[in-house]
Amino acid sequence: MHDEGLSFPNHFLIGAATAAYQVEGAAHEDGRAPSIWDTFCRIPGKVRHGDTGDIACDHYHRLDEDLDLISALGMQAYRFSIAWPRVMPDGNGKLNQKGLDFYRRVLDGLHSRHVVPMATLYHWDLPQKLQDRGGWLNRETADRFAEYASRMAAAFKDDVAFWVTVNEPWCSAFAGHLEGRHAPGLSDLASAVAAAHHLLLGHGLAVRALREAQVTGEVGIAVNLSDVHPATSQAEDIAAAARVDGYENRWFLDPLFKSGYPDDMLAWYGRNADLGAIREDDFEVIRTPLDFVGINYYERKIVSHGGGVNGAQRQPPEGPLTAGGLPVRPDGLFNILTRVHSEYTDLPVYVTENGAAFNDYVDPEGGVDDIERVAFLDAHLRSLQAATAAGIDVRGYFVWSLLDNFEWADGYSRRFGIVYVDYRTQTRIPKASAIWFREVLSAGATARVR
Ligand code: FCB
Repeated sequence: MHDEGLSFPNHFLIGAATAAYQVEGAAHEDGRAPSIWDTFCRIPGKVRHGDTGDIACDHYHRLDEDLDLISALGMQAYRFSIAWPRVMPDGNGKLNQKGLDFYRRVLDGLHSRHVVPMATLYHWDLPQKLQDRGGWLNRETADRFAEYASRMAAAFKDDVAFWVTVNEPWCSAFAGHLEGRHAPGLSDLASAVAAAHHLLLGHGLAVRALREAQVTGEVGIAVNLSDVHPATSQAEDIAAAARVDGYENRWFLDPLFKSGYPDDMLAWYGRNADLGAIREDDFEVIRTPLDFVGINYYERKIVSHGGGVNGAQRQPPEGPLTAGGLPVRPDGLFNILTRVHSEYTDLPVYVTENGAAFNDYVDPEGGVDDIERVAFLDAHLRSLQAATAAGIDVRGYFVWSLLDNFEWADGYSRRFGIVYVDYRTQTRIPKASAIWFREVLSAGATARVR
């Protein structure tokens, strides 16, 4: 059995994660307004097959069924996101009661099933109305975000156990404003730096708003971190790896937990971009103390000196790969957890996302035998276990994802779920990994005490 020997500290939470735009569908219902992803999906060539989140997993209409599924799989916790354009269609001011009602049902449904809720406030679906006023390039968006956080805190005050302000600010900022592969689809370094800064500022202001509203839940952020290594011991490869690490990891960790952006990256970006959006006073807000740090882990990268924005290039990955071509490297999770602890913070950590896409299909017996995912999850949980054994205060793990869903620019082509979704009929089929997970969870319920 794969799960032999997996055990976690007392009170360790294991669950699954989703995000609103990726699963909900009902994009034009009950007063939801468009987000930047609704717009982006309609730009030809941006999303595979021209897919959109209009229907997705139809989770909005199948909420009860999906909550029953979460419960049947034995999940202790569930991470979901609140769609800003559903609850505040204009991005500011007026609340949409029907949108609030939906998340009330989510929270009540989780509570009645004894599943701990973790709610993300921003999982990339900025109301289009705010984008029309500059989006994250406009400093005011950070204030709008804090206002939204404060209204959500008032609505769901004692019902959310964990609040995540922003999911993966790197993706919103750099994948969205420099690499152009996510909404809003820009390709400009100065814009990306400005967006990153305003996302971080919005995060800090939102933490303050949540505290002011005296929410009873814990407050944190979810950053995506890569485990980056140089291809050789040559100085120029080491420098290239440091820049990639600066780009993806330190640009966010340093301002959150130290005094500001890393000097080497400020100098590097400053050669080609106007960094005027950054104001020194903001760092105090950005580093407003948190209760936990959420880490999303997907990738280990080997880099060498090369071209591009970071003067670096990624080496082709070796070994087993996911369907998305990422290497399966559970050791990277251990490296990241120990690094964040030794270099940045001793706050409790939640792995807020980890998972992989594989080429899953329904076999003639009607099952989905995703043995690659079982091996993947087993190995990553073991790596996490090694980190807890090394003294890192990891308190939970959320697999990405509960369901196959709309995988951003890859549309429906990438299946990350532990539950298979037949999009045509919206049938849910728990994959072998979901069954395995349930076994780990039920064994864990008794074996979880170290
Ligand atoms: C992360 C996102 C999540 C999902 C996974 C595969 O970057 O936070 O929404 O798309 O990747």
